[in-house]
Amino acid sequence: MRSTLPAMLLLAAATTASAAPVHITTPATSLLLEATEGAAPVILYYGARLTDADAASVAAVEKGHNAYPAYGLITQTPTAISITHADGDMTLDPAVVSTDTYTDADGLPVTAIRMRDRKYPVDIALCYRAYPGTDVIDTWTEITNGERRPVTLSRYASAYLPVRRGDVWLSHLAGSWANEANLVQEPLRPGVKSIVNNDGTRNSQTSHGEIMLSLDGRPDDRAGRTIGAALEYGGNYRIDLVTDDSEHHSLLAGINEANSPYTLARGETFATPPLALTYSDRGTGGVSRNLHRWARRYKLAHPERDRKILLNSWEGVYFDINEQGMHAMMDDIASMGGELFVMDDGWFGGKYPRNNDSTSLGDWTVDTTKLPSGTAALVDYAASKGIGFGIWIEPEMTNTQSELYEKHPDWIVRSANREPVTGRGGTQLVLDMANPAVQDHVVKVVDDIIAANPGLDYIKWDANMGISNHGSTYLGADRQSHLYIEWHRGLIKALDRIRKAHPDITIQLCASGGGRPNYALLPYFDEFWVSDNTDALQRVYMQWGTGYFFPAIAMASHISSKPNHQTFRTTPVKYRADVAMSGRLGMEIQPKDMTDEEKDFCRRAIADYKLIRPVVQHGDLYRLLSPYDGHGAASLMYVDEPRDEAVVFWYKTETFHNQHLPRVTLDGLDPDRSYTVTELTRIDNEPLPFEGRAFTGRYLMENGLEIPYTHKVDYHKLNDWSSRVLRLQAVK
Ligand code: DGJ
Repeated sequence: MRSTLPAMLLLAAATTASAAPVHITTPATSLLLEATEGAAPVILYYGARLTDADAASVAAVEKGHNAYPAYGLITQTPTAISITHADGDMTLDPAVVSTDTYTDADGLPVTAIRMRDRKYPVDIALCYRAYPGTDVIDTWTEITNGERRPVTLSRYASAYLPVRRGDVWLSHLAGSWANEANLVQEPLRPGVKSIVNNDGTRNSQTSHGEIMLSLDGRPDDRAGRTIGAALEYGGNYRIDLVTDDSEHHSLLAGINEANSPYTLARGETFATPPLALTYSDRGTGGVSRNLHRWARRYKLAHPERDRKILLNSWEGVYFDINEQGMHAMMDDIASMGGELFVMDDGWFGGKYPRNNDSTSLGDWTVDTTKLPSGTAALVDYAASKGIGFGIWIEPEMTNTQSELYEKHPDWIVRSANREPVTGRGGTQLVLDMANPAVQDHVVKVVDDIIAANPGLDYIKWDANMGISNHGSTYLGADRQSHLYIEWHRGLIKALDRIRKAHPDITIQLCASGGGRPNYALLPYFDEFWVSDNTDALQRVYMQWGTGYFFPAIAMASHISSKPNHQTFRTTPVKYRADVAMSGRLGMEIQPKDMTDEEKDFCRRAIADYKLIRPVVQHGDLYRLLSPYDGHGAASLMYVDEPRDEAVVFWYKTETFHNQHLPRVTLDGLDPDRSYTVTELTRIDNEPLPFEGRAFTGRYLMENGLEIPYTHKVDYHKLNDWSSRVLRLQAVK
């Protein structure tokens, strides 16, 4: 796991103060700046990798744009930073002092362009980190107050990027609880397009801090120059795309400054969260693959590990936890070939037993009326069945009805002068992570659970409330506006301590479903829960959107019951399994309510998933046919890095008689090798015509395969759903 803490270790430094262009490169991309001493730094180019000769020519001809426009002398066009100096002056005019390169605490190369205001002792460093072996460059800013008294930051974007106008389209994600990560694609028009989060704790439930910009018109998954940007922050953010009357759109991204002016003490340095930039000329698909590779290498816990196939208890029993029920679920998942059982909410509480969502958060002691032998006995039971055991917690929260709140009423986020504002269950409260005592509590919750349950394999870490009632008793009167920022610093500090103490345990990032996938928190987690909506059809859309920015290895995707608990739609178990298999496969169901036939099918699906798990979880994603395009079907595939193996998923999204669906052409294969096709999770009475046959990658990518619209099954088994999983193996 990589540290995301801003403090950088200066291991080796080379300093220059010339007019030479600063050329930051990755294998396929270049970011070119000019940093002339005494002048404002200029961003000249971001895109496909330049040769040194091109870089020199570009530097000679391009005028470029101020790389970090500051408010004060510039007032009418977009600015990235705004400061009120100790004397009340609101102007800022930074000029380059030097440029240096160093190696950070994780051994990664950083280039810093250092500036100082021409009148005031305020220093700003523009920092760039290229991640070796990927096409991702982090960009962030470090602002240091050298004045004798505090200054106030009212705008402090992580980065500014000018994007040449033309026919530029934005791709981003929007939604709500149980409807997360809907893909939205729109052209940039004059005005300001803002993507904003104000939740305080869950910053991806409604919108996401990751975007793509397609430079050549309507976004295409296979072609076109495309920029990707992912803000590595877990708190409130703001992404602005400003289109004024100039030749460029201005991209500004960073912490949402609303209600968060930051007082920078004398000598203090404020580091903004990094904005990860990537570029591909292979369209939105190319950008996704760049981000996924980066995530799998640098931004996830245990990227090398195969994720286990699990059964989670939530939709199966909700709060109705008891020993016999947990044993039965473990027996069932083990008998279907699963590898892990996770006991969700409802297992804890002393004075206040957790029988619904209105009590007990914070009281992380086993409810022995439900589990008389305790949780350690469940871990042992799981081991006796050959599977791992996981447990649910929500450590950043409490309820008004809890022993924790009775003991520490001052530990919650609230204005000192008002009654607490409650959330879920009418009683939930957010603990004040800015307070070090609360950070200690959160760390201790995890330490104690791991100590009390030797062999515990997995933790599901949930967070079901945003910040309301702005206030922190810990921060004191002069730092109330730091609440959102300090809350997140506190969370990261706690997570850092937890991961240092428990590097091996698997932890899932969950927040009312998919409320938290972002690249600030993910380095501490192995995976995330995509949504509380487990309906397979809606998941086709949500997983499609989520996959724009996050890799399949991290996307928890579960087979749930029929009818589905959120949409009440009934889909066959094959469709549910085929959709779940395109991410990290799991189950979210009461197995004892399944028919034997469904269990047999799931046993087969789990065995099949084990065959393709390395490709799904560690391979490259190619999106083939978007459900959002309304063609009646969706299709995606994964290809392993050597292009030896691939798996194609195909889902019908609507059914009409005499329907005409597009034939899907494949992608990412070696055109000159042949691949044998095998259908997995097959239900048809007869094999597909191409079963066991080999085709060249070229044929598959230029012509595709004709996938039947329906399944050939016995009459009484016919229904309106259809899906396919095809395994492709290169002929040796
Ligand atoms: C919200 C999560 O998203 C669900 O999966 C489940 O863990 C519940 N919380 C439990 O309260």
